[in-house]
Amino acid sequence: MDKRKLLIDTDPGIDDAYAILSAMLCDKFDILGILCVSGNKSLRIVMPNALRLVDLEKKDIPVCKGAWSCLKDLDKPLVEEISADCHGADGMGESGLPYTERCLVDTPSWDFMLEKIKEYPNEVELVAIGPLTNLAIAIEKDVETMKQLKSITIMGGTIEHRGNVTPYAEFNTWFDAEAAQMVIEKLGDSVDIRLVGLDATHNSVLSHDVFDFLAYEGGFRGELLERISRSYIKAYYFDSLILGGIIHDLYAMLSLIDPSIIEVEKEVKVKVICGGEHHGQFVECEDGKKITAVMKFDTKKLVRTFLNIMLTGKEEVIEKFLPVMVK
Ligand code: BDR
Ligand code: CA
Repeated sequence: MDKRKLLIDTDPGIDDAYAILSAMLCDKFDILGILCVSGNKSLRIVMPNALRLVDLEKKDIPVCKGAWSCLKDLDKPLVEEISADCHGADGMGESGLPYTERCLVDTPSWDFMLEKIKEYPNEVELVAIGPLTNLAIAIEKDVETMKQLKSITIMGGTIEHRGNVTPYAEFNTWFDAEAAQMVIEKLGDSVDIRLVGLDATHNSVLSHDVFDFLAYEGGFRGELLERISRSYIKAYYFDSLILGGIIHDLYAMLSLIDPSIIEVEKEVKVKVICGGEHHGQFVECEDGKKITAVMKFDTKKLVRTFLNIMLTGKEEVIEKFLPVMVK
């Protein structure tokens, strides 16, 4: 059977790493490319991370460079100070992954995206787990081609939950609110957009047991993921008094791999605010664009899906400890 055509737009990123590895291992996708964007860290840090992850799995997946900064500051390189500290100095929890001789492809992310959509009209599923700058540039270049995406799954935004950068905004949409606004304005209503925002991700805090289990049973990948998550989990406790890990980007990817993990989702009409105190906020309004917002995952199903991808052949031990890991 033909595999589903996937593009991953990303700023790896600890939770991005979980998502990318899951996509590479789940066997459902023909991953057409990994499109890098500045966000958690600048491109000079996230691009090598993407290459190192592809190298880890010995895959032949093109990795593209993308936007150096948000839409309105494209000419200025990203200053690291506005990036997300919880991902560590190397942007991926001090992964220690070996550097690679793999090279980026010459085509920038937005052109690569447009090329692939033209090659497979209405077939390409795009998952965006970083700021939406690359998508916005592609829209500016050729919105009609972008409308031929089969779907876009966005990790970003929040509908009812408090923001994680400001009281109103989530990091990815706050980082480039103009880009998020453009994606919603130009593609909402015409492309199937599913938002996996903080409403859903904060409902699935993974217990320390999940990470311990991953390290004990998950071989080199499990050990790597558990190790790179330690400081990230610690930051959640000290910054937000949350005990456990919220692996946002992974959940967005898993919702694409197996939509049955979604417990509650709703159709909303939204706009994105740019500027001022509410910069990056998604607001529901009658004249907004129609998208689907995931509000809640079934955490047990989510964890089961993830572990079955990472720990192939270990269904029995996963089932044995699932009730311990997810109460
Ligand atoms: C999002 O922001 C980033 O720090 C994460 O990688 C995720 O994409 C969560 O708000
Ligand atoms: Ca991310």
